[in-house]
Amino acid sequence: MKLSRYIFGTTRLGHADVSDERASEVARAAVAAGVWFHTSRQYDDALEILGGVYDEDRSSLPPTIYKIGGKDLEDVRNVIRQNLAPLKRTFMEVGQISPGGAIGQGLADGSVIAGFEKLREEGLVRRFVLEVFPWTSATVLTALRAGHLEGLIDAYIFYLNPLQRFAANALWDELAARRLPMIAMRTVAGGNVYRLRDVPGAAWKPYLVERARAIAPIFERSGVSEWSEFCMRFAHSIPGVLATVGSTSRTEGLAELLRQARNPEPLRDDTVEEIFALQRRWSDEVDVHGQPGSM
Ligand SMILES: NC(=O)c1ccc[n+]([C@@H]2O[C@H](COP(=O)([O-])OP(=O)(O)OC[C@H]3O[C@@H](n4cnc5c(N)ncnc54)[C@H](OP(=O)(O)O)[C@@H]3O)[C@@H](O)[C@H]2O)c1
Repeated sequence: MKLSRYIFGTTRLGHADVSDERASEVARAAVAAGVWFHTSRQYDDALEILGGVYDEDRSSLPPTIYKIGGKDLEDVRNVIRQNLAPLKRTFMEVGQISPGGAIGQGLADGSVIAGFEKLREEGLVRRFVLEVFPWTSATVLTALRAGHLEGLIDAYIFYLNPLQRFAANALWDELAARRLPMIAMRTVAGGNVYRLRDVPGAAWKPYLVERARAIAPIFERSGVSEWSEFCMRFAHSIPGVLATVGSTSRTEGLAELLRQARNPEPLRDDTVEEIFALQRRWSDEVDVHGQPGSM
């Protein structure tokens, strides 16, 4: 699957602190840059902002990954329609399947595979990626080991940045052993590491403050000066990572991410190994005990 190394995440377009004008401006700049987009009906009015920008020039719309979580296949079809309608688009380049509830069960036992294949045959969704969280990792691992995902899933998508690696250890090891493609989410882990560490309320959960404290010295020892560069290079140091998804409401922020993505040099092996060791511990001690929405 050919993606841009950096994918424009669209959550910030829908946030209340970002005016519609500013959101449209950054979305317009991301379209002009020619990168892939990642979006969802769950991101407030991000789809309406995008629909407005797309209407200005429909000649080159960005290929996009859409979240298509639903409680069953019928619900997934509704979600697909709800995502495409504001954009006046008729198909998705990529749908991001969420393996919660009945869909997760159906992936593990194989019973929903044909339903997703039908969506692809109809041309409604051209390719699928599978979302992973610590609390769905076991389900995904079962489905993977049973062989149900072969030919259906083109990549695994999850939070993957210096502070978070949301495929639990057993699944992470299996993805690596099988050399499966991955898409890393939350490029800068939600913001500058010092802000996350030092500004009360900047990190949305206390565990991220702890992790910022642990990662800051590794960042400093790496000799890299920009947090965004460190993060972009971290993502692209990981074998199998095709792209990283990051959001910004600022055209300067976008320009910075685009610059970092141009030719990201891998970080030194010892830097990556140090972060990997922390993430392996965090996975067992913290992540696998998390609940949906808790992290
Ligand atoms: N389950 C899912 O599928 C799921 C879950 C979470 C995220 N995502 C996807 O991943 C995307 C990114 O996630 P995210 O927004 O949570 O995390 P993120 O991209 O790591 O962080 C975005 C935050 O970092 C700030 N920022 C951006 N560039 C920066 C830079 N160069 N230096 C310092 N701060 C910077 C942004 O503020 P400014 O606006 O001020 O730049 C924003 O507050 C989302 O838009 C979404 O597409 C998907």
